[in-house]
Amino acid sequence: MAVPEMRDDIDDIADVEELEPLEELSDLEAGVNELPAESPLLSESGPRCVARSYEAIPEPLALLDDSLAFIYRNRPFRDLLKAFSYPDSSSFLGTLARAIDPETARSIYEGIGKTERGHAWKGTIAHRSKDSAAVITKVHIFPLWPDEPAGDKPPAYSVYLDDVTEENRKFLRDMFSSLLEASKLKDNDTGKHIERVNLYSALLAKELFADSRWPEVDTDFVDNIGFLAAMHDVGKIGTPDDILNKEGPLNEFEWGIMKEHTKNGAFILSSYPNPMAKEIALSHHEWWNGSGYPYNLEGAMIPLAARIVTLADVYDALRMKRSYKPAYAHEVALQKMRQERGVHFDPELVDLVLRIESQMERVYAENAD
Ligand SMILES: [Fe+2]
Ligand SMILES: [Fe+2]
Repeated sequence: MAVPEMRDDIDDIADVEELEPLEELSDLEAGVNELPAESPLLSESGPRCVARSYEAIPEPLALLDDSLAFIYRNRPFRDLLKAFSYPDSSSFLGTLARAIDPETARSIYEGIGKTERGHAWKGTIAHRSKDSAAVITKVHIFPLWPDEPAGDKPPAYSVYLDDVTEENRKFLRDMFSSLLEASKLKDNDTGKHIERVNLYSALLAKELFADSRWPEVDTDFVDNIGFLAAMHDVGKIGTPDDILNKEGPLNEFEWGIMKEHTKNGAFILSSYPNPMAKEIALSHHEWWNGSGYPYNLEGAMIPLAARIVTLADVYDALRMKRSYKPAYAHEVALQKMRQERGVHFDPELVDLVLRIESQMERVYAENAD
């Protein structure tokens, strides 16, 4: 039987028979026993051989039958499924249902069902859980023995998950850091304000992460807010300098233009894959009581990340000297924030700030301009 896709691999592992018995092969045997006797999966160079070669590879690899049911998963693949608490389903799509939206599932079926697409599919799947950071994988599904018999659906597929989390993260962060640098040239916020806003925001998010009443705060939330909080005023890149740098109060017209920095920021950050970036830019001037801008959102309608950044931004602004105000002492800043509990700020988050106020003060002291 011709094995065009795998022949090289199989030749490279001529000593596979000497490998220790693979406990995972019981997984394989179970799948194989269901197959018709003439299936190429039962041939000598079939899945047993492929599985043995996959067992030695540190990347997550699996074999699927023609209905996309698992016939084999190597250890990294099974570890990944375990790490994200995927259900124990015999089907690939059933197992990853939480991570694969219907559109993606359809595109997978289309890819593997069509000869002109090589019975293959490539795409990206993100794996998420509360306690570990998201893992982004490029997924390659490709046929084994695609020519046998000619024209028919391949009897089996190989799935390879390529972890691109780090390169993805680095690419995005480099791109958005450059944007931030550009916006700093225009913004009149001086010194390390934005770095401190990142630090307070991450600090507050970490506290929420440890509190089961905030299930939406997972590892990624903490990690993302600690980078994205700094972006809150990125929309000021579109605000005219004479308004941005004006000494004294803005008139109504100028104030209207100033407020646009929220929507501009959301627009600029709309290509960032995590909606948190947009939420922070758009809603960091909303008030808990609904009197903020740009949309008079109130209470929990304001995204949590934006409610956190609002507190972080205002605390730091109170501590800093600005052209229109002196630098307030830590206690004075806290007092002003307490007065705005349930007015400007989420009351529960104000309580949190008051609980960890010494850590907030330390962030300011250790990152002073
Ligand atoms: Fe702002
Ligand atoms: Fe700010």
